[in-house]
Amino acid sequence: MTERVASLRPTAVNCVLAEVRQLQAEGRSLVSLMRGQPDTPTPPHIVEAVQRALREGHTGYPDNQGEPILRQAVAEKLQRDNGLTYDPAREILITNGATCGLCTALGALIQPGDDVLLPDPIYDAYASPVALWGGRPVFVPAMIRDGRFVMERAALEAVHTTNARVLLLNTPWNPTGTVLTVAELASTMEFAAARNLFVISDEIYENLVYDGRRHIPPAAVSDQARLRTLVVNSLSKTYAMTGWRVGYCAGPAELIQTMLLVLQQFSRGPATFVQHAAAHALRSSQECVQRMAAEYQGRRDLVLQRLSGIPGIVPLVPEGGLFVMVDIRGLGVPSDEARRFLLREAGVVVIHGAAYGPGGEGTLRVSFAAGGNVLEQGLDRLRHGLERLAENSSRKAGV
Ligand SMILES: Cc1ncc(COP(=O)(O)O)c(C=O)c1O
Repeated sequence: MTERVASLRPTAVNCVLAEVRQLQAEGRSLVSLMRGQPDTPTPPHIVEAVQRALREGHTGYPDNQGEPILRQAVAEKLQRDNGLTYDPAREILITNGATCGLCTALGALIQPGDDVLLPDPIYDAYASPVALWGGRPVFVPAMIRDGRFVMERAALEAVHTTNARVLLLNTPWNPTGTVLTVAELASTMEFAAARNLFVISDEIYENLVYDGRRHIPPAAVSDQARLRTLVVNSLSKTYAMTGWRVGYCAGPAELIQTMLLVLQQFSRGPATFVQHAAAHALRSSQECVQRMAAEYQGRRDLVLQRLSGIPGIVPLVPEGGLFVMVDIRGLGVPSDEARRFLLREAGVVVIHGAAYGPGGEGTLRVSFAAGGNVLEQGLDRLRHGLERLAENSSRKAGV
Protein backbone atom coordinates (compact mmCIF):
# COMPACT_ATOMS: atom_id res chain seq x y z
CA MET A 1 0.00 0.00 0.00
CA THR A 2 1.39 3.44 -0.86
CA GLU A 3 1.98 5.97 1.91
CA ARG A 4 -0.78 8.16 0.51
CA VAL A 5 -3.33 5.36 0.48
CA ALA A 6 -2.29 4.28 3.96
CA SER A 7 -3.43 7.68 5.23
CA LEU A 8 -7.03 7.10 4.05
CA ARG A 9 -9.71 6.08 6.55
CA PRO A 10 -13.02 4.29 6.06
CA THR A 11 -16.01 6.44 6.99
CA ALA A 12 -17.40 6.22 10.53
CA VAL A 13 -20.60 4.70 9.15
CA ASN A 14 -18.61 1.93 7.44
CA CYS A 15 -16.60 1.22 10.63
CA VAL A 16 -19.70 1.02 12.83
CA LEU A 17 -21.50 -1.04 10.16
CA ALA A 18 -18.77 -3.70 10.39
CA GLU A 19 -19.48 -4.02 14.15
CA VAL A 20 -23.23 -4.03 13.52
CA ARG A 21 -23.00 -6.84 10.94
CA GLN A 22 -20.95 -8.95 13.30
CA LEU A 23 -23.53 -8.59 16.09
CA GLN A 24 -26.38 -9.26 13.66
CA ALA A 25 -24.61 -12.43 12.48
CA GLU A 26 -24.65 -13.52 16.16
CA GLY A 27 -28.44 -13.09 16.08
CA ARG A 28 -28.68 -9.74 17.94
CA SER A 29 -31.61 -7.46 17.19
CA LEU A 30 -30.39 -3.93 16.50
CA VAL A 31 -32.19 -0.71 15.59
CA SER A 32 -30.18 1.79 13.61
CA LEU A 33 -30.34 5.54 14.19
CA MET A 34 -27.07 5.93 12.36
CA ARG A 35 -27.34 6.77 8.67
CA GLY A 36 -28.28 9.89 6.77
CA GLN A 37 -30.39 7.81 4.45
CA PRO A 38 -33.91 9.24 3.92
CA ASP A 39 -36.39 6.38 4.34
CA THR A 40 -38.93 7.78 1.88
CA PRO A 41 -38.87 6.54 -1.72
CA THR A 42 -37.88 8.89 -4.55
CA PRO A 43 -41.06 10.83 -5.50
CA PRO A 44 -43.05 9.05 -8.25
CA HIS A 45 -42.80 11.86 -10.81
CA ILE A 46 -38.99 11.50 -10.75
CA VAL A 47 -39.20 7.71 -11.10
CA GLU A 48 -41.54 8.21 -14.06
CA ALA A 49 -39.07 10.69 -15.58
CA VAL A 50 -36.22 8.16 -15.50
CA GLN A 51 -38.44 5.51 -17.11
CA ARG A 52 -39.39 8.02 -19.79
CA ALA A 53 -35.73 8.96 -20.35
CA LEU A 54 -34.89 5.28 -20.83
CA ARG A 55 -37.79 4.79 -23.25
CA GLU A 56 -36.66 7.88 -25.17
CA GLY A 57 -33.25 6.25 -25.56
CA HIS A 58 -31.05 8.46 -23.36
CA THR A 59 -28.66 5.58 -22.90
CA GLY A 60 -25.46 6.69 -24.63
CA TYR A 61 -22.47 8.39 -23.02
CA PRO A 62 -23.44 11.65 -21.36
CA ASP A 63 -21.77 14.98 -22.08
CA ASN A 64 -18.82 14.72 -19.67
CA GLN A 65 -19.52 18.17 -18.18
CA GLY A 66 -23.12 17.08 -17.68
CA GLU A 67 -26.08 16.84 -20.02
CA PRO A 68 -26.98 20.38 -21.20
CA ILE A 69 -30.58 19.94 -20.00
CA LEU A 70 -29.37 19.21 -16.45
CA ARG A 71 -26.80 22.01 -16.39
CA GLN A 72 -29.57 24.36 -17.49
CA ALA A 73 -31.90 23.02 -14.76
CA VAL A 74 -29.16 23.48 -12.14
CA ALA A 75 -28.59 27.08 -13.28
CA GLU A 76 -32.34 27.74 -13.00
CA LYS A 77 -32.46 26.13 -9.54
CA LEU A 78 -29.50 28.18 -8.26
CA GLN A 79 -31.19 31.35 -9.50
CA ARG A 80 -34.64 30.43 -8.18
CA ASP A 81 -33.69 29.08 -4.75
CA ASN A 82 -30.39 30.80 -3.98
CA GLY A 83 -30.36 34.01 -6.02
CA LEU A 84 -27.09 32.88 -7.64
CA THR A 85 -26.36 33.30 -11.35
CA TYR A 86 -24.16 30.72 -13.09
CA ASP A 87 -23.58 30.12 -16.78
CA PRO A 88 -24.60 26.52 -17.55
CA ALA A 89 -22.14 26.39 -20.46
CA ARG A 90 -19.02 27.18 -18.40
CA GLU A 91 -19.76 27.38 -14.70
CA ILE A 92 -21.60 24.15 -13.86
CA LEU A 93 -20.31 20.58 -13.67
CA ILE A 94 -22.47 17.49 -13.09
CA THR A 95 -20.93 14.84 -10.81
CA ASN A 96 -21.68 11.40 -9.37
CA GLY A 97 -23.13 12.86 -6.19
CA ALA A 98 -21.56 15.46 -3.90
CA THR A 99 -18.93 12.88 -2.90
CA CYS A 100 -17.49 12.95 -6.41
CA GLY A 101 -17.88 16.73 -6.67
CA LEU A 102 -15.88 17.27 -3.47
CA CYS A 103 -13.10 14.90 -4.45
CA THR A 104 -12.87 16.41 -7.94
CA ALA A 105 -12.78 19.94 -6.50
CA LEU A 106 -9.98 19.03 -4.11
CA GLY A 107 -8.06 17.47 -7.01
CA ALA A 108 -8.38 20.70 -8.97
CA LEU A 109 -7.56 23.04 -6.09
CA ILE A 110 -4.82 21.54 -3.95
CA GLN A 111 -1.34 20.28 -4.52
CA PRO A 112 0.91 18.23 -2.25
CA GLY A 113 1.82 20.24 0.82
CA ASP A 114 -1.32 22.40 0.79
CA ASP A 115 -3.48 22.68 3.89
CA VAL A 116 -7.28 22.48 3.87
CA LEU A 117 -9.11 24.04 6.82
CA LEU A 118 -12.10 22.01 8.08
CA PRO A 119 -14.48 22.72 10.95
CA ASP A 120 -14.19 20.19 13.77
CA PRO A 121 -16.41 18.21 14.22
CA ILE A 122 -17.29 17.67 10.57
CA TYR A 123 -18.61 15.02 8.16
CA ASP A 124 -15.85 12.45 8.32
CA ALA A 125 -15.57 11.80 4.57
CA TYR A 126 -13.73 15.09 3.87
CA ALA A 127 -10.33 14.43 5.44
CA SER A 128 -9.40 11.36 3.37
CA PRO A 129 -9.97 12.90 -0.08
CA VAL A 130 -7.83 15.86 1.07
CA ALA A 131 -5.08 13.37 1.91
CA LEU A 132 -5.64 11.46 -1.34
CA TRP A 133 -4.55 14.55 -3.30
CA GLY A 134 -1.54 15.08 -1.04
CA GLY A 135 -3.10 17.80 1.12
CA ARG A 136 -3.28 18.06 4.89
CA PRO A 137 -6.55 18.51 6.74
CA VAL A 138 -6.25 21.18 9.44
CA PHE A 139 -9.11 21.15 11.93
CA VAL A 140 -10.70 24.33 13.22
CA PRO A 141 -12.15 23.56 16.68
CA ALA A 142 -15.80 24.47 17.03
CA MET A 143 -17.41 25.24 20.40
CA ILE A 144 -20.83 24.54 21.84
CA ARG A 145 -22.27 27.98 22.69
CA ASP A 146 -25.84 28.30 23.93
CA GLY A 147 -26.60 24.76 22.80
CA ARG A 148 -25.24 25.31 19.30
CA PHE A 149 -21.94 24.42 17.65
CA VAL A 150 -20.17 27.51 16.30
CA MET A 151 -16.85 28.06 14.54
CA GLU A 152 -15.45 31.40 15.64
CA ARG A 153 -13.21 33.72 13.65
CA ALA A 154 -10.57 33.50 16.39
CA ALA A 155 -10.42 29.72 15.98
CA LEU A 156 -9.90 30.13 12.23
CA GLU A 157 -7.12 32.66 12.81
CA ALA A 158 -5.48 30.41 15.42
CA VAL A 159 -5.08 27.38 13.14
CA HIS A 160 -4.43 29.18 9.86
CA THR A 161 -1.09 28.30 8.24
CA THR A 162 0.76 29.85 5.32
CA ASN A 163 0.13 26.61 3.38
CA ALA A 164 -3.66 26.89 3.73
CA ARG A 165 -5.36 27.03 0.30
CA VAL A 166 -8.92 25.91 0.89
CA LEU A 167 -11.60 26.26 3.56
CA LEU A 168 -14.30 23.60 3.49
CA LEU A 169 -17.72 24.59 4.79
CA ASN A 170 -20.89 22.57 5.24
CA THR A 171 -24.16 24.39 5.94
CA PRO A 172 -26.48 22.95 7.22
CA TRP A 173 -23.54 21.41 9.03
CA ASN A 174 -23.24 17.63 9.47
CA PRO A 175 -23.02 16.41 12.22
CA THR A 176 -23.70 19.50 14.34
CA GLY A 177 -27.03 20.65 12.88
CA THR A 178 -25.92 24.31 12.79
CA VAL A 179 -27.22 26.42 9.91
CA LEU A 180 -24.71 29.23 9.43
CA THR A 181 -26.23 32.70 9.81
CA VAL A 182 -25.58 35.66 7.50
CA ALA A 183 -23.34 37.21 10.16
CA GLU A 184 -21.34 34.00 10.62
CA LEU A 185 -20.99 33.56 6.88
CA ALA A 186 -19.95 37.18 6.35
CA SER A 187 -17.25 36.90 8.99
CA THR A 188 -16.02 33.54 7.64
CA MET A 189 -15.94 34.80 4.05
CA GLU A 190 -14.07 37.91 5.20
CA PHE A 191 -11.49 35.63 6.79
CA ALA A 192 -11.25 33.60 3.55
CA ALA A 193 -10.70 36.81 1.57
CA ALA A 194 -8.09 38.14 4.00
CA ARG A 195 -6.16 34.85 3.82
CA ASN A 196 -6.80 34.28 0.12
CA LEU A 197 -8.51 30.93 0.68
CA PHE A 198 -10.83 29.27 -1.79
CA VAL A 199 -14.06 28.02 -0.20
CA ILE A 200 -15.68 24.68 -1.02
CA SER A 201 -19.26 24.83 0.22
CA ASP A 202 -21.13 21.55 0.65
CA GLU A 203 -24.85 22.42 0.73
CA ILE A 204 -26.35 18.96 0.46
CA TYR A 205 -28.78 19.52 3.37
CA GLU A 206 -29.94 22.94 2.14
CA ASN A 207 -33.62 22.01 2.04
CA LEU A 208 -33.69 20.37 5.45
CA VAL A 209 -33.86 23.49 7.63
CA TYR A 210 -36.25 23.90 10.53
CA ASP A 211 -38.30 26.44 12.49
CA GLY A 212 -38.72 28.68 9.47
CA ARG A 213 -34.98 29.14 8.89
CA ARG A 214 -33.48 29.78 5.46
CA HIS A 215 -30.33 28.28 4.05
CA ILE A 216 -27.86 30.92 2.89
CA PRO A 217 -25.13 29.83 0.48
CA PRO A 218 -21.70 31.31 1.33
CA ALA A 219 -21.43 32.38 -2.35
CA ALA A 220 -24.51 34.59 -1.87
CA VAL A 221 -22.86 36.73 0.81
CA SER A 222 -21.25 39.10 -1.75
CA ASP A 223 -19.98 39.22 -5.35
CA GLN A 224 -16.48 38.73 -3.99
CA ALA A 225 -17.58 35.67 -2.03
CA ARG A 226 -19.11 34.14 -5.15
CA LEU A 227 -15.76 34.46 -6.96
CA ARG A 228 -13.89 32.45 -4.34
CA THR A 229 -16.54 29.78 -3.71
CA LEU A 230 -17.46 26.48 -5.26
CA VAL A 231 -21.02 25.32 -4.52
CA VAL A 232 -21.22 21.53 -4.12
CA ASN A 233 -24.64 19.94 -3.96
CA SER A 234 -26.59 16.84 -4.97
CA LEU A 235 -30.08 15.48 -5.30
CA SER A 236 -29.37 12.74 -2.73
CA LYS A 237 -31.10 14.21 0.32
CA THR A 238 -33.44 16.76 -1.28
CA TYR A 239 -35.32 14.21 -3.38
CA ALA A 240 -34.49 10.98 -1.47
CA MET A 241 -32.19 10.00 -4.35
CA THR A 242 -29.12 8.75 -2.45
CA GLY A 243 -28.78 5.70 -4.71
CA TRP A 244 -29.08 7.63 -7.99
CA ARG A 245 -25.64 9.20 -7.61
CA VAL A 246 -26.24 12.57 -9.15
CA GLY A 247 -24.93 15.93 -7.99
CA TYR A 248 -23.52 19.19 -9.26
CA CYS A 249 -20.94 21.90 -8.68
CA ALA A 250 -21.15 25.58 -9.60
CA GLY A 251 -18.26 28.02 -9.51
CA PRO A 252 -15.90 30.21 -11.50
CA ALA A 253 -15.48 28.98 -15.11
CA GLU A 254 -11.74 28.40 -14.86
CA LEU A 255 -12.15 26.11 -11.85
CA ILE A 256 -15.08 24.23 -13.40
CA GLN A 257 -13.06 23.57 -16.56
CA THR A 258 -10.10 22.33 -14.48
CA MET A 259 -12.48 20.11 -12.53
CA LEU A 260 -13.80 18.69 -15.80
CA LEU A 261 -10.24 17.75 -16.71
CA VAL A 262 -9.85 15.97 -13.34
CA LEU A 263 -13.29 14.34 -13.44
CA GLN A 264 -12.89 12.79 -16.89
CA GLN A 265 -9.88 10.81 -15.65
CA PHE A 266 -12.20 8.62 -13.56
CA SER A 267 -15.81 9.28 -14.51
CA ARG A 268 -18.03 10.03 -17.49
CA GLY A 269 -20.62 11.43 -15.08
CA PRO A 270 -23.90 9.98 -13.80
CA ALA A 271 -25.93 7.77 -16.19
CA THR A 272 -27.43 9.82 -19.02
CA PHE A 273 -31.04 8.83 -18.20
CA VAL A 274 -30.44 9.69 -14.53
CA GLN A 275 -29.30 13.15 -15.56
CA HIS A 276 -32.49 13.69 -17.58
CA ALA A 277 -34.63 12.62 -14.62
CA ALA A 278 -32.58 14.87 -12.32
CA ALA A 279 -33.35 17.83 -14.59
CA HIS A 280 -37.05 16.97 -14.25
CA ALA A 281 -36.73 16.81 -10.43
CA LEU A 282 -35.15 20.27 -10.27
CA ARG A 283 -37.63 21.82 -12.70
CA SER A 284 -40.95 20.42 -11.51
CA SER A 285 -43.00 21.39 -8.44
CA GLN A 286 -40.94 21.43 -5.24
CA GLU A 287 -43.92 20.50 -3.08
CA CYS A 288 -42.44 17.05 -2.36
CA VAL A 289 -39.37 18.75 -0.87
CA GLN A 290 -41.45 20.95 1.43
CA ARG A 291 -43.46 17.91 2.55
CA MET A 292 -40.28 16.01 3.33
CA ALA A 293 -38.79 18.91 5.31
CA ALA A 294 -41.99 19.15 7.39
CA GLU A 295 -41.85 15.40 8.06
CA TYR A 296 -38.23 15.66 9.22
CA GLN A 297 -39.02 18.58 11.49
CA GLY A 298 -41.63 16.36 13.19
CA ARG A 299 -39.08 13.57 13.61
CA ARG A 300 -36.49 15.99 14.98
CA ASP A 301 -39.00 17.22 17.55
CA LEU A 302 -39.79 13.63 18.53
CA VAL A 303 -36.09 12.90 19.16
CA LEU A 304 -35.72 16.05 21.27
CA GLN A 305 -38.81 15.25 23.29
CA ARG A 306 -37.90 11.59 23.91
CA LEU A 307 -34.37 12.40 25.01
CA SER A 308 -35.22 15.23 27.36
CA GLY A 309 -34.95 15.03 31.14
CA ILE A 310 -32.16 12.43 31.43
CA PRO A 311 -29.59 13.57 34.03
CA GLY A 312 -26.27 14.61 32.45
CA ILE A 313 -27.67 14.50 28.92
CA VAL A 314 -28.66 17.41 26.71
CA PRO A 315 -29.94 16.88 23.17
CA LEU A 316 -28.86 19.92 21.11
CA VAL A 317 -31.59 21.36 18.89
CA PRO A 318 -30.50 20.99 15.24
CA GLU A 319 -31.37 23.94 13.00
CA GLY A 320 -31.03 21.77 9.91
CA GLY A 321 -29.88 18.37 8.60
CA LEU A 322 -30.85 14.89 9.67
CA PHE A 323 -29.10 14.50 13.02
CA VAL A 324 -29.45 15.43 16.68
CA MET A 325 -26.18 15.80 18.52
CA VAL A 326 -26.66 14.63 22.08
CA ASP A 327 -24.34 16.29 24.58
CA ILE A 328 -23.23 13.55 26.99
CA ARG A 329 -20.34 15.45 28.57
CA GLY A 330 -22.20 15.28 31.86
CA LEU A 331 -21.71 11.49 31.93
CA GLY A 332 -17.91 11.70 31.94
CA VAL A 333 -17.65 8.78 29.50
CA PRO A 334 -15.79 8.92 26.15
CA SER A 335 -18.29 9.03 23.28
CA ASP A 336 -17.01 5.81 21.69
CA GLU A 337 -17.45 3.96 25.00
CA ALA A 338 -21.02 5.29 25.27
CA ARG A 339 -21.73 4.26 21.66
CA ARG A 340 -20.47 0.72 22.28
CA PHE A 341 -22.54 0.42 25.46
CA LEU A 342 -25.66 1.54 23.58
CA LEU A 343 -24.92 -0.90 20.76
CA ARG A 344 -24.22 -3.92 22.92
CA GLU A 345 -26.42 -3.30 25.95
CA ALA A 346 -29.36 -1.38 24.47
CA GLY A 347 -29.34 -2.67 20.86
CA VAL A 348 -29.36 0.78 19.25
CA VAL A 349 -26.85 2.08 16.72
CA VAL A 350 -25.66 5.69 16.89
CA ILE A 351 -22.31 7.26 16.03
CA HIS A 352 -19.87 8.68 18.57
CA GLY A 353 -19.14 12.38 18.10
CA ALA A 354 -15.39 11.75 18.23
CA ALA A 355 -15.71 9.99 14.84
CA TYR A 356 -16.22 13.49 13.41
CA GLY A 357 -13.06 14.91 14.97
CA PRO A 358 -11.84 15.69 18.48
CA GLY A 359 -14.35 18.55 18.66
CA GLY A 360 -17.17 15.98 18.58
CA GLU A 361 -15.95 14.23 21.75
CA GLY A 362 -18.62 14.26 24.45
CA THR A 363 -21.48 13.92 21.98
CA LEU A 364 -23.42 11.21 20.14
CA ARG A 365 -24.95 11.66 16.67
CA VAL A 366 -28.50 10.38 16.42
CA SER A 367 -30.05 10.20 12.95
CA PHE A 368 -33.75 10.83 12.35
CA ALA A 369 -33.50 9.97 8.65
CA ALA A 370 -35.55 6.86 9.40
CA GLY A 371 -39.00 7.46 10.90
CA GLY A 372 -42.01 5.35 11.93
CA ASN A 373 -41.39 2.22 13.96
CA VAL A 374 -37.63 2.34 13.50
CA LEU A 375 -37.45 5.78 15.09
CA GLU A 376 -39.97 4.93 17.83
CA GLN A 377 -38.23 1.70 18.78
CA GLY A 378 -34.76 3.19 18.38
CA LEU A 379 -35.64 6.09 20.68
CA ASP A 380 -37.09 3.75 23.33
CA ARG A 381 -33.88 1.77 23.32
CA LEU A 382 -31.72 4.88 23.25
CA ARG A 383 -33.52 6.48 26.17
CA HIS A 384 -33.31 3.32 28.20
CA GLY A 385 -29.59 2.92 27.39
CA LEU A 386 -28.79 6.54 28.19
CA GLU A 387 -30.68 6.29 31.49
CA ARG A 388 -28.55 3.27 32.41
CA LEU A 389 -25.40 5.17 31.47
CA ALA A 390 -26.56 8.11 33.58
CA GLU A 391 -27.21 5.79 36.56
CA ASN A 392 -23.76 4.19 36.17
CA SER A 393 -22.12 7.58 36.07
CA SER A 394 -23.89 8.90 39.17
CA ARG A 395 -23.05 5.64 40.99
CA LYS A 396 -19.37 6.09 40.07
CA ALA A 397 -19.48 9.69 41.25
CA GLY A 398 -21.01 8.43 44.53
CA VAL A 399 -24.09 10.62 44.11
C1 LIG B 1 -22.21 16.61 4.45
C2 LIG B 1 -22.36 15.56 3.43
N1 LIG B 1 -21.83 15.76 2.21
C3 LIG B 1 -21.94 14.82 1.24
C4 LIG B 1 -22.58 13.61 1.47
C5 LIG B 1 -22.67 12.60 0.37
O1 LIG B 1 -23.46 13.11 -0.65
P1 LIG B 1 -23.78 12.35 -2.01
O2 LIG B 1 -24.79 11.29 -1.73
O3 LIG B 1 -24.35 13.41 -2.88
O4 LIG B 1 -22.50 11.83 -2.53
C6 LIG B 1 -23.15 13.37 2.72
C7 LIG B 1 -23.85 12.10 2.99
O5 LIG B 1 -24.26 11.77 4.05
C8 LIG B 1 -23.04 14.36 3.72
O6 LIG B 1 -23.55 14.17 4.94
